[in-house]
Amino acid sequence: MNVFMPELSDEDFEKFSKLIYEQCGIYLQPLKKALLKSRLLKRLKVLNLNSFSEYYNYLMKDKSQKEFTELINVISTNKTEFFREPKHFEFLKQVLAGQYSKQHKISIWSAASSTGEEPYSIAMTISNFFNDIITKEILILATDIDTNVLKKAQQGEYDNASLENLDENYVKKYFVESSDKNKKIVCDKIKNMIKFKQLNLVKPFPFITQFDIIFCRNVMIYFDAPTQAKVVTQLYNHLKPNGYLLIGHSESLMRVKIQNLKYLAPATYQKII
Ligand SMILES: C[S@@+](CC[C@H](N)C(=O)[O-])C[C@H]1O[C@@H](n2cnc3c(N)ncnc32)[C@H](O)[C@@H]1O
Repeated sequence: MNVFMPELSDEDFEKFSKLIYEQCGIYLQPLKKALLKSRLLKRLKVLNLNSFSEYYNYLMKDKSQKEFTELINVISTNKTEFFREPKHFEFLKQVLAGQYSKQHKISIWSAASSTGEEPYSIAMTISNFFNDIITKEILILATDIDTNVLKKAQQGEYDNASLENLDENYVKKYFVESSDKNKKIVCDKIKNMIKFKQLNLVKPFPFITQFDIIFCRNVMIYFDAPTQAKVVTQLYNHLKPNGYLLIGHSESLMRVKIQNLKYLAPATYQKII
């Protein structure tokens, strides 16, 4: 049997990692060479190319940036789950009951939303908090760089296994049956609370909206210190005064110095102005 296995030279690794770093801030150490190779191979197969340098040249010639989107889609790590890091959802309930109780409009941004579990967890928390009668104006924006995960998020269809850790009451209220008996679909009411858009965190954001709360969790871990500082500065500028920035619990803003961004609790910061 002829097994197709081109080599990724050190020189090609350098070229791809530089391109990926410049375009989406993901920093690949030389240790990640095998991982990069296995992910790039998927594109070589689809495009029927024989070497990584051919693929690099293909990318350079692709003015539409379509293949670049495909490259990002194979590179990004999309692991997520419903109510991941549950303390943040307790925190959300706490501010809904306190600071935001008198505010008519509440805006929340899930800034690396992956396959949708995070923004749907936010929407379900809010809907349940108001006993499913929402009289406030709620904006939930969900963005990611990866167009494949955004598509999956918009479909809102999940394996039953991924709903196992969800409160049974939430599953009953907020999911409907799918034609596939191994899956369930988020109900329209929850889906309609969210706007999904593609957005690259390391490029200038294409809007000026400021949010009450930004969830930017488990993505900065892939960025180096200068990129983290750039991203957090932009996020800070898109927070309302007294708004909150929530990051992943295994991430840290130790190397990012923004004077008015105050540490409140693990992975929880507030813009004090
Ligand atoms: C590990 S998932 C985290 C999902 C969710 N926030 C959570 O904590 O469960 C990281 C997500 O960040 C996205 N991502 C990576 N680089 C990005 C960038 N430069 N801009 C926007 N999203 C990016 C990936 O596509 C992926 O879906």
